[in-house]
Amino acid sequence: MSDRKNTTFSSKVGLIMAAAGSAVGLGNIWKFPYIAGENGGGAFLVVYLLCVLLFGMPLLMTEFMIGKRSGKSAYGAFHALSGNNRWQWLSWLCMLTAFVIMGFYFVVTGWCFNYLVEAVTNALGGLSAQELNAHFDTIQSSNIRMIGFGILPVLLTAGVLWFDVNTGIERLSKVLMPLLLILMLLMAGVVLMMDGSSAGMRFFFRFDFAQFTPRVVMEAMGQCFFSLSIGMGALITYGAYMPKGQNVIATSVQVIVLDTIVALLAGVIIFPAVFAFGFDPAEGPELVFVVLPAIFEKMTLPWLSSVLFFALLCIAAITSTISLMEVVVAFICEATAGKKHPLNRRQAVLITSVLVIALLVTCVFVPEVFNYSDLVSACVMMPLGALGMAVFVGWRLHKIGKKSVQPNEKWIKRWARMFYLFVLRFIVPLAILLIVLNGLGVL
Ligand code: TRP
Repeated sequence: MSDRKNTTFSSKVGLIMAAAGSAVGLGNIWKFPYIAGENGGGAFLVVYLLCVLLFGMPLLMTEFMIGKRSGKSAYGAFHALSGNNRWQWLSWLCMLTAFVIMGFYFVVTGWCFNYLVEAVTNALGGLSAQELNAHFDTIQSSNIRMIGFGILPVLLTAGVLWFDVNTGIERLSKVLMPLLLILMLLMAGVVLMMDGSSAGMRFFFRFDFAQFTPRVVMEAMGQCFFSLSIGMGALITYGAYMPKGQNVIATSVQVIVLDTIVALLAGVIIFPAVFAFGFDPAEGPELVFVVLPAIFEKMTLPWLSSVLFFALLCIAAITSTISLMEVVVAFICEATAGKKHPLNRRQAVLITSVLVIALLVTCVFVPEVFNYSDLVSACVMMPLGALGMAVFVGWRLHKIGKKSVQPNEKWIKRWARMFYLFVLRFIVPLAILLIVLNGLGVL
């Protein structure tokens, strides 16, 4: 990791694909439909899109720039840019958030692997809506199975990090992301042709003011952070790998567009199917897992499409877990560098994997931990991290003047820079505070 500054992605597309690979994951395909379903569909969608514009864009740029300027990961970046240790709590928050997310993320990735195996063996063909629900409960009730399938992606992620951070991710994402998009488009086509699908489209796209509550706003903001991988320093690391001439704004826009398209597509696939098959949109975390197998039955090549889809879903999840685990691994390496017992990358990967497996087991045995860690990370920890980074760049770095992290690409006019700083200094921190306090019922 010491030669981090010399490691860059081999191309601009490579970085965009890796960052999009981090962003596009279970957050888009699993979490977005179920959270939207629980929060009234259209109302959630509108608030979510507003959050992406208000928080997503400036914060994504901010994280990329912190990384690009410092050439460091979340551990060393704040120190390198501010020249003192007063911002070190942000690094610790990033690392803790990564752990909390990984605990439940690996459990859900495990479900994906479980369904991939069942797709290959054709175990789900022809089951009714009730049977699919019951099947999900069967999976849940077997702790051994959940732990086994959860450990598998931990080992895969550790394997990728063991060798190299970028070449693998870069090559994988370049091919697989487009493939995932094409398959999802096909599925949307099939679903929209089914009888009764229009009710789902109405649910997803019609804004119902009655559904609009503080809770919806908080969950939409949390989902925006989670889906774009912002608020915990994952993209600082990728920013550090950014080739010199790469434009931060253009890159951020591309990542956001890709991430939003996948989330919208997931909604367009899931909700019409939910209504056509008679599922409940507010089903909860199992929503996509019970609805998807029913959709594949309607496709021309059910076996092939289900195998392909779950394989791509597993890969999308792994490109996300890679960026999550990298935060902790880089943290351990940088934190121990130059100390009495410096740890190398592989030792850090081992330590992280053991800790993550322990967390995963806890999430499986104590369902409250699972539910709680999802909510707390998205609605409290990531907003706090984002708040910290906005204040850091908007107020602290700005004072340093020349060294300040601002978009300094030539084509950005002065007003764009001012606007960005204004949003970062005032709008983002205030909005985050209000939304979190309001959502928690403090206000
Ligand atoms: N964005 C990913 C998803 O939507 C999850 C994720 C990966 C993430 N890395 C992250 C979330 C870093 C927050 C921070 O599935």
